[in-house]
Amino acid sequence: MRHTTVGIIGGGPSGLLLARLLHRAGIDSVVLESRDRTYVEQRQRAGILEQATVDALRAAGAGERLDREGLVHHGIELRFDGRAHRIDFPALTGGRSVMVYAQTEVVKDLIALQLGEGGPLLFEAQAHAVEGADTDRPRVHYTHQGREQTLTCEYVVGCDGFHGVAKDALPEGVRRSYERSYPYSWLGVLADVAPSYDELIYAHSPRGFALGSLRSPSVSRLYLQVPIGTDPADWPDERIWDELDARFALGTPWTLRRGPITAKSVLPLRSHVTEPMRYGRVFLAGDAAHIVPPTGAKGLNLAAADVVVLARAFAQLKDSGSAELLDAYSATCLRRVWRAEHFSYFMTSTLHTDPGQSPFETRLQLSQLERIASSGHAAAELAENYAGLPIGSDA
Ligand code: APR
Ligand code: PHB
Repeated sequence: MRHTTVGIIGGGPSGLLLARLLHRAGIDSVVLESRDRTYVEQRQRAGILEQATVDALRAAGAGERLDREGLVHHGIELRFDGRAHRIDFPALTGGRSVMVYAQTEVVKDLIALQLGEGGPLLFEAQAHAVEGADTDRPRVHYTHQGREQTLTCEYVVGCDGFHGVAKDALPEGVRRSYERSYPYSWLGVLADVAPSYDELIYAHSPRGFALGSLRSPSVSRLYLQVPIGTDPADWPDERIWDELDARFALGTPWTLRRGPITAKSVLPLRSHVTEPMRYGRVFLAGDAAHIVPPTGAKGLNLAAADVVVLARAFAQLKDSGSAELLDAYSATCLRRVWRAEHFSYFMTSTLHTDPGQSPFETRLQLSQLERIASSGHAAAELAENYAGLPIGSDA
């Protein structure tokens, strides 16, 4: 039987960043991750970091490569009705920007740090259940190297994503879930070609939504709205490029550079919140507590905000004995979570085409996009949400 102060289930961005922040605050933890290291490091996910997320990674000691290789972006482009409109973040938000740095790289940096300093990070350690959430010794039962094991803790944090087990520690009468699924998916591709754009392009088109993003100056990341149930095998490279061309088309000539596609996958879009984010001595953070559709680029940033709030709360408890921040954790996080839920829903529903969408609804979408393009207030609302607020300013 192993014992630790904070037992962390899940070694994704939330669990790893939390472990690093706790380590810096002199608080010990053990991270249990069900997958192997290679799987966790290769999993393709988001790539846009808010300033507050960059600050948190620096505070965790993971700022070095990020500062060298991350690309600062000062805006995004909206395309609709054959036109392009730029949203200028610093001008609209009083100086804020975002950074393009892939989640795979964030995860690699955090894992290297954690293992380098000998922090217990167990791969292929699958948690089955959390017991005793309402006692002062919660326990995590897990399997590691074929053996059943128990981790006893002062506190447990479920950073185990949407399909994790930690949220089962919230009793039925306590737990509330809110969710929405969307009637379309995304086909995401990675291509070995320099992006044809300096900033991300979010395109509304009669053929559906398209997004142009990047992973580095030589790797493009692109997405197409596709029907639910789409098989990537039905999308040969040529078809993908032709469809992207059609959806990004402008009234003036514009060329999308093509290159070898190295990965293709289909991902669902969903919104989900579990409340409260704490029961007894068990806390939920990141995707374990909330999911957003990726259109607003909020998932990773929300996960980082949760664990920053939580690490501060554990540090306060250790330094002063006060549980004030810990007691406020769920309410503090949920304010930011619901703002991001709304923004992600807004971006998704404004830019995608529902299968049964009427011409009236399309005209409403275009009117909304036109409003963003012509009103500083409407553009600032988008820019503030996208670039994000400092953590704690919403507390
Ligand atoms: N035991 C141990 N580990 C588990 C278990 C379990 N029972 N269940 C899940 N895990 C691990 C998963 O293998 C994964 O590595 O928990 C981790 C959860 O990681 P993420 O799903 O990446 O969630 P999170 O760390 O909160 O990061 C949120 O990831 O999903 C994206 O867009 C999202 O960018 C956001 C970020
Ligand atoms: C990505 O680069 O994967 C990405 C960027 C912006 C989004 C979603 C995904 O809104």
